[in-house]
Amino acid sequence: MNPPFRNRRSLTNLGGAIETEGDAEDTAKLAEALAVRSSLDDEDAARSHVHGFHTYPARMHPDTAARLVRSFVPDGGTVLDPFCGSGTVLIEALVAEVRPFGVDLNPLAVMLTKCKTRLRSTEELQTLIATATVCANYANERRKARAGASRRYSAEDVQLFEPHVLLELDSLRTKISEITDNALWLDLALVLSSLLVKFSKKSSDTSGEMVARKTMPGFPSKMFVRKAEDLVQRLMALGKLVTNPQPVFVDQDDATKLKTLPSVKMDAIVTSPPYAATYDYVAHHMLRLRWLGLDASSLKSGELGSRSTYERVDPRKAADTWSHELARFFRAAKTVLAPGGKLVMLMADSALGTIALRAEEIVAQTARDCGLYPAARASQPRPHFHGPSRDAFRDRPRFEHAILLRN
Ligand SMILES: C[S@@+](CC[C@H](N)C(=O)[O-])C[C@H]1O[C@@H](n2cnc3c(N)ncnc32)[C@H](O)[C@@H]1O
Repeated sequence: MNPPFRNRRSLTNLGGAIETEGDAEDTAKLAEALAVRSSLDDEDAARSHVHGFHTYPARMHPDTAARLVRSFVPDGGTVLDPFCGSGTVLIEALVAEVRPFGVDLNPLAVMLTKCKTRLRSTEELQTLIATATVCANYANERRKARAGASRRYSAEDVQLFEPHVLLELDSLRTKISEITDNALWLDLALVLSSLLVKFSKKSSDTSGEMVARKTMPGFPSKMFVRKAEDLVQRLMALGKLVTNPQPVFVDQDDATKLKTLPSVKMDAIVTSPPYAATYDYVAHHMLRLRWLGLDASSLKSGELGSRSTYERVDPRKAADTWSHELARFFRAAKTVLAPGGKLVMLMADSALGTIALRAEEIVAQTARDCGLYPAARASQPRPHFHGPSRDAFRDRPRFEHAILLRN
């Protein structure tokens, strides 16, 4: 196989040596975007302004998103994130005053991105806190009156929550469902969502581990108001950063189809698609999707790279399967990219069994087959946490790559 890129180099940098290939100017920009401390080490940056409102698995570091947008989107241009997740790229696009477009198949991601990218008036922010307080008061009154649940809960929910927590969350959920203003409903449903896993016995979205909880009665309602106040602070902080607000487009769509986008050509796509065989967004978000009444059927049938799908794939055929999935995305991307437009993607190597899926090789080959030119990449070693596939990275470490493809 041809080397995927030309001009191999290696730079010493924060978080390990960065290997680069391709055009020197582009690789320097990609390397700069990769060389941020991980959000695990650098909680403050990852939580800065509205980014930190709600957790989301595998979100892009905001500094990486900001650097990629500033380096690869022309002034006043358009940028699409077709796997927008919690909206990191769109938020940084707003700050950089370029026009953001985002889609995702996960309805929770669409809600989060809409919430985090909509700048509000002071009046709207006041209403948000006042309505959160009304919901919390309602939950407190029902708690004191020892009122029962408003619906029958599944055995799963009964297992996941302490009984009094389940009742208090149920009251918050009931009051939120009475809100008729869609935007306000969306904000407060997400405030509730941001607390769900914290008050459940799940240790995180992505782990099956259960932890013991001992929650004071009334604490969920108190946290609900605090979280609404926190969202308001964060939106105000974002408002100060965005001096020239651009219209934002966000919708639910499949990145391998891109049917909902308005007919605007994108100067750049900046994105982090799922990594093959790594996450399961349906499973990770089932609790939140269920409580928010969101329809997961499109995500179930169209999620790219999900670990549960790859568990059924012969590891020797996994690279071909992944290439096939990526090709569907690249072909759709080509239909919306402007001539000469750039597709910048972050992707880490992954593994199935003992077989490593080297993202830079699979991406470069597949991109070429789809008429996109692999122009540059920067790659930095990353730890691999998945025990059963550790041997896949015995000879060569796992890398995260920032890759530039040109249309
Ligand atoms: C790595 S995450 C993106 C995280 C995002 N960059 C952020 O900062 O929050 C990958 C996203 O791809 C979405 N996804 C998976 N398959 C998809 C598909 N076929 N079309 C659109 N989105 C998809 C998942 O729902 C998830 O939000």
